[in-house]
Amino acid sequence: MAACLLEQGEDAFRRLFKYYKRRKPPPDFSGVVDFSRAEKNLKVLKAPLNVSSISDQDACKAGLQPVHKWKAYGLDGYPGFMFISDPFLPGWQRYWAKQCLKTYPQKPNVCNLDLHMSPEETADLWEQSREQLRLKAPGKREAKSLLEKLRWVTLGYHYNWETKKYSPDHYTTFPIDLAYLSEQVAAACGFQQFKAEAGILNYYHFDSSLGIHVDESEMDYSKPLLSFSFGQSAVFLLGGQKRQDPPLPMFMHSGDIMIMSGRSRLLYHAVPRIVPNLEGRAIPSCLEPMTTSDSCSAGASFRQSDQGDWEICAKYLQNSRVNMTVRQVVGVGQSFPVEPGGGKIADSQPYSYHQDPSKEENEHKRQKIVNEEVAEPP
Ligand code: SIN
Repeated sequence: MAACLLEQGEDAFRRLFKYYKRRKPPPDFSGVVDFSRAEKNLKVLKAPLNVSSISDQDACKAGLQPVHKWKAYGLDGYPGFMFISDPFLPGWQRYWAKQCLKTYPQKPNVCNLDLHMSPEETADLWEQSREQLRLKAPGKREAKSLLEKLRWVTLGYHYNWETKKYSPDHYTTFPIDLAYLSEQVAAACGFQQFKAEAGILNYYHFDSSLGIHVDESEMDYSKPLLSFSFGQSAVFLLGGQKRQDPPLPMFMHSGDIMIMSGRSRLLYHAVPRIVPNLEGRAIPSCLEPMTTSDSCSAGASFRQSDQGDWEICAKYLQNSRVNMTVRQVVGVGQSFPVEPGGGKIADSQPYSYHQDPSKEENEHKRQKIVNEEVAEPP
C-alpha cells in the first residue's frame, strides 16, 4: 500500500526514469526519438545553423565536417534545444574519445578517484590501467581497472559537487583543443562569443545512469550548454522547467552533440540508461579510423593516436559511453560574488534567463548525480 501511494505521488519524470532504467522486463524503446532516423518523428524539426560563422578549415581543425553538411535538429516545444547528429570527420571521434580516457583525467584535472586516493595514486590512470584493460577477457568477472572506476572528471573551473558551485580559487587551464571544438560548435549554433570555461566529463557503463538534474551553477544562462557523446548510446530524458513535467526520451549516439540554450537551458534532464549501439557492433562504425582521403591536414596534429592507444580505448568503449559537457561560467561583465568568508564563488544567481524564478525553480540545483555507481570508492 505504501509503495502504491509512493508510486501515485511520484512525478512523471521519476516514473519514466525508472521505466527506462528497468532491466526486467526491459522497457520498450520504440518511443525513444532517434535523430539519426529523424524524418519519421513529428516533434523533430530542422534547425538552422550559422553556416558562414566558421570556415571549413576551422571546422576541420576541430575534427568537424563543414557546417553546411551538419544535420541539425530542434524539437517542437523546446526552443533553444539543438541536436547535431554526428558532425565529426571520420577518425576524429577516436581522437576525442582518447582525450577523455588518456589525457583529460590527468592532473591538474580533478576526478572522482581523487576523493579516496592520493594524487600519486591517481596521477596516471591510463598507464595504470592499460595493461589490465588490454588483457581483459570479454564476459569474465575480473577486478576493475582504475579507468573503469572513473566516473567523472572536471576541467577549467572545477565543479564542486558538494557546494554545487564553481570557484575562481579552483581553476586550472581549460584544455585548448576542447575549448576550440566547443567554440566552433557554439559559433555555428549562433553563439559567437562563447567561452569554454568549465567541463564535466561523465563516464558510463551499461549499468550506470545519471540522475534528474538541472545545470544552473553557471552565472550566465544566456550561454549554451554543450554536450558531446562517444562510445555506446544513451537514452536521454529531456524534461520541462518543473520536475513534474513528463520528459521526452531520445537516443544519444556516438558523435552526437546536444545544445541546451535559451528557454531550454534550464530544463530538467537525466540519463536513465546506456544501451548498446543500435548497429549491434562491438563499437559503433563512426569510431572506425579515417581513410587517407578523409584527412584534414590542418588538424592532423590532433590525431596522432597510435594503434596501441586505440586498442585500449576500443576495449573500454565496448562497454562504455563518455560524455563531455562544456559550459561558460562567467558572463561578460560578471565576476564571482564575494562569499561571506572572503572567498569568491559562482552561485546560482539567474543572470539573463530567469528574471523571476519561482520558489520551485530555486530548488533546481544541479541535483545529485545519481549515477548509482559514481560515488563508489575505488
Ligand atoms: C549526458 O551524459 O548525456 C548528460 C550529462 C549531463 O547532463 O551532465
